[in-house]
Amino acid sequence: MTRGNFILKGDIAWSKDPKTIETKKGAFLVCREGKSAGVFQHIPGEYKNLPVIDYSPALIIPGLTDLHMHAPQFGFRALGMDEELLEWLNKRAFPEEDKYADLAYANRAYFFLRENLKKSPNTRIVLFGTMHVKATVLLMKLLEESGLVCLVGKVNMDRNCPDYLREKDAAASLAATREWLLECGNGAAGGGGKVRPILTPRFIPSCSDELMEGLARLQKEFSLPLQSHLSENRKEIGWVRELCPKSDSYGDAYAKYGFFDGKAPVVMAHCVWSDEKEMELLRERGVYIAHCADSNTNLSSGIAPVRRFIEMGVPLGLGSDVAGGTHISIFRAMCDAIKVSKLRSVLVEPDKMPLTVEEAFYLGTAGGASFFEKAGFGPSGSFEAGCELDALVIDDRTISFLCDLSVRDRLERVLYLSDERDIKAKYVQGGEIETR
Ligand code: GUN
Ligand code: FE
Repeated sequence: MTRGNFILKGDIAWSKDPKTIETKKGAFLVCREGKSAGVFQHIPGEYKNLPVIDYSPALIIPGLTDLHMHAPQFGFRALGMDEELLEWLNKRAFPEEDKYADLAYANRAYFFLRENLKKSPNTRIVLFGTMHVKATVLLMKLLEESGLVCLVGKVNMDRNCPDYLREKDAAASLAATREWLLECGNGAAGGGGKVRPILTPRFIPSCSDELMEGLARLQKEFSLPLQSHLSENRKEIGWVRELCPKSDSYGDAYAKYGFFDGKAPVVMAHCVWSDEKEMELLRERGVYIAHCADSNTNLSSGIAPVRRFIEMGVPLGLGSDVAGGTHISIFRAMCDAIKVSKLRSVLVEPDKMPLTVEEAFYLGTAGGASFFEKAGFGPSGSFEAGCELDALVIDDRTISFLCDLSVRDRLERVLYLSDERDIKAKYVQGGEIETR
């Protein structure tokens, strides 16, 4: 079989738009040169010679997209879950991230993460590394071998963190960032690979003004995408108000550094406490929000106003935020997003409808995938013709065997009930990934 040229047969579902899940039973998904040529009830004549892999009666859906996770935090998931953000960072995240100065430790930990990501339903992931150049390059190399599409960031932090993790000053942090860009094949060249760099100032409390301004210059020089955290926790937001007295809001402070006027896309995790003005700023500048419901619950951050994000038209996707979140699966993030939106609707905003299954599925596939397209990859997250073919084959017979359900209803059960053992095959950009 020529790589990237084949046909998958099964019960196929994908998100046509936020309100519509398109389904075709016993249908054929045609892959040409790694891209979808469409879904057909019968194989069109021009594709008759392509090999057919018959997965019937399994479900075939697009791969899932995680817009926010921390690679070095995978190893301590589900620890410190009684703490809030700032305490948790100091007690759990920072001491663990310090260990990545040791490349042997980084290799063990990132290999373990990589194997878990391969088995997961996620096919595209935006990751934080640590502030260490060598360990972050190593992470990118390991991920490149996996076949997953990833944007990975070397973290910047030069203030308000323990000495062992603090870069000496802005100049040292910027020099280390240039060294990392050079070593990983860099944004300027685009790398062309599946794993590419994304600038990653941790958040305003841990980056000086000078560092932020230098990173905004780098962002423009190389047209690099950028990720950070925004308006996650009330204490954090109060702290940012003290650190940036001239800014109207946390988001405005990022805008004043110049982060929101580059060509490449920006994704901000959380925005739990964003007010209308901050949301309007994000919408106007096309800044993505990574909605991380699991983390926001675990760290008692709050419930993000996700219905308002959608009404306003802020670009939106889902994030696991491991290890604020405990699970890497974006199926889990979809269900968590639905559940917390119901709580918000009942407890806070009765006039706002909770998220539907259709909307959550859209956010975790095509919604998040559009960030990768803006970052220079092809379109994905859907089976519309022309999309890079990321697909999951899910054997849901153990989940749905007692009843005769529509493909759409089987998909809803998969969101809530499936786990990695149900994933029969996984494709990224038309190439199959080892999941066992
Ligand atoms: N804000 C700054 N750093 C972090 C982190 O590691 N996790 C989360 N959830 N929020 C942050
Ligand atoms: Fe985070």
